[in-house]
Amino acid sequence: MTQHKQLQVSAIENGTVIDHIPAESLFVVINILGLDTIPNQITFGANLDSRKLGKKAIIKVSDKFFEDSEINKISLVAPHAKLNIIRDYEVVEKRDVEIPDEIIGIVKCFNPKCITNNEFIKTRFRVEDKNDLMLKCHYCEKITSRSELKMV
Ligand code: CTP
Ligand code: ZN
Repeated sequence: MTQHKQLQVSAIENGTVIDHIPAESLFVVINILGLDTIPNQITFGANLDSRKLGKKAIIKVSDKFFEDSEINKISLVAPHAKLNIIRDYEVVEKRDVEIPDEIIGIVKCFNPKCITNNEFIKTRFRVEDKNDLMLKCHYCEKITSRSELKMV
C-alpha cells in the first residue's frame, strides 16, 4: 500500500472499512451492525476531519465481510458511507451503500396502532423518497420519515 498521508486510524490487514459515516451516526451504525456483540477486532474514529462531511466517523472491522442485507441497514443512517474491502492490506473493492426500494424487518413503523407494533409481524416498507427518506408501511400505509426512524 502506498502511504501518502498519516492514517488517523491504523490500517488493517483483512476486513471491511466503513468510511464517510456522518459523525453523529457512528454509534447507531455500531448498533445496527451488532458490532458490540462480535469477537472481531474493531477500531473506530469519531469526529475525524472530512472534506466532504466536515466531521466524519470511520469503522474498521477485521476479518469481517458484510452481507448486502447488512449494508442496506447502514444506508438508512449513513447514506453516503463507503465500504472498502481490504485483503492483504490492499483495498480490493469499494462499494457505495444504497437505500433499497423495499425495507423488510429493519425499521419500526412510526404508527403505534400498526399491526407490526402489536403482533409478531416483520415490518415492511416501500421507500417513497430516498433523499428525504419516506418509508410507506405495507400494512398501515403510514409514512415513517427520517426523524421518526427507529431500528427494530
Ligand atoms: N484502509 C485501511 N487499511 C488498509 C487499507 C485502507 O484501514 N490496509 C482504509 C483507509 O484508511 C481509508 C479506506 O480504507 O480510510 C479507504 O482506503 P483508500 O481507498 O486507500 O483511501 P481513500 O483514497 O482516501 O478513499 P476514499 O476516496 O474512498 O475516501
Ligand atoms: Zn405500519
